[in-house]
Amino acid sequence: MSIKIVGTGSTLPEKCVTNEDLTKLVDTSDEWIRERTGIGSRHVSTGETVDELAASACEKALADAGKSASEVELLLVATCSPECGIPGVACQVQSRLGASNAVAFDLNAACAGFLFALNTAWAYVEAGIYRNALIAGAEVLSKIVDWSDRGTCILFGDGAGAVYVEKCDRDGMLGFVQHADGSRGEVLRCDSRALKNPYADVSMKSPYVQMDGREVFAFAVRQVPAGIQEVLDKAGTEADDIDLFVLHQANYRIIEGIAKRLKQDISKFPVNLDRVGNMSSAAIPVLLDELNRAGRLKRGMKLVLSGFGAGLTWGACVLKW
Ligand code: UT7
Repeated sequence: MSIKIVGTGSTLPEKCVTNEDLTKLVDTSDEWIRERTGIGSRHVSTGETVDELAASACEKALADAGKSASEVELLLVATCSPECGIPGVACQVQSRLGASNAVAFDLNAACAGFLFALNTAWAYVEAGIYRNALIAGAEVLSKIVDWSDRGTCILFGDGAGAVYVEKCDRDGMLGFVQHADGSRGEVLRCDSRALKNPYADVSMKSPYVQMDGREVFAFAVRQVPAGIQEVLDKAGTEADDIDLFVLHQANYRIIEGIAKRLKQDISKFPVNLDRVGNMSSAAIPVLLDELNRAGRLKRGMKLVLSGFGAGLTWGACVLKW
């Protein structure tokens, strides 16, 4: 038994911020950002919240699948930038959608979050606990980015993507792998709250994203191809048999490095980071939705999805569309 994706959706905030716009905030240039990252613009919230974006993407995924919110049994939201500690974003989305029959909870594995949520849904369905799931990756990273740090503020964007999956007897997801290495967590970190109570007053490092970009880059180019090879072996297939590699959109040079290590043509690696930047857990489902709506995903195609980021976390899955 497996799961297949039968609907996709995505929503971006209205405001688009170009590299040129960022030159008014920090000492940078369009040329530097494009050359080092491949990013040209990104969408930034001017008030849209994570749950609002996630709910909108979920509504579109449900409509694409021809399903109603009341049919959803499991609702997962992957995010590392919720507005509230409690309630979880998934519960807020459940309320917005009226998905009253679903169990709803969040999952945080940073940029690998959507992939981990997809794999979690598969495990629940395979265990016979639920028959379908609505899974969103949603971020408003602009509130945890230091807009005076040119090393990070140029990279990130806001948005949400979602998929509706249901049980299938054959094909669908063919294999997945997930990894975490908490010992390297310091290379990409963002504190949330300081410990301040009548008995303690402990300051935190920073409420904004702190990143050692070179370390994250090296990790991605080394570990991600190894993870993809591992999942290909697990699914009994080869890189040459894969039609599209839908990767986390962090940096075009990372994607090129991964393609090179897998000895695959770069044309098999669709990108949208030039228009949306790095949207962490929203990156993969937004790209999937764009490909789906552009008619680039045909039934029977084999895809690899792979997410990687803070934690450190990384993982991949193989699926037949
Ligand atoms: O989802 C996972 C999250 N994160 C990532 O995937 C990030 C992975 N890492 C990267 O994408 C790259 O490391 C960056 C794009 C963040 C940086 O590119 P880099 O080629 O590693 O540059 P660098 O940090 O080594 O900096 C090179 C130079 C430095 O100047 P000096 O010391 O050589 O004079 C930086 O100060 O570029 C400077 N620099 C900039 N210059 C113009 C750093 N950021 C900027 C900027 N504009 N925005």
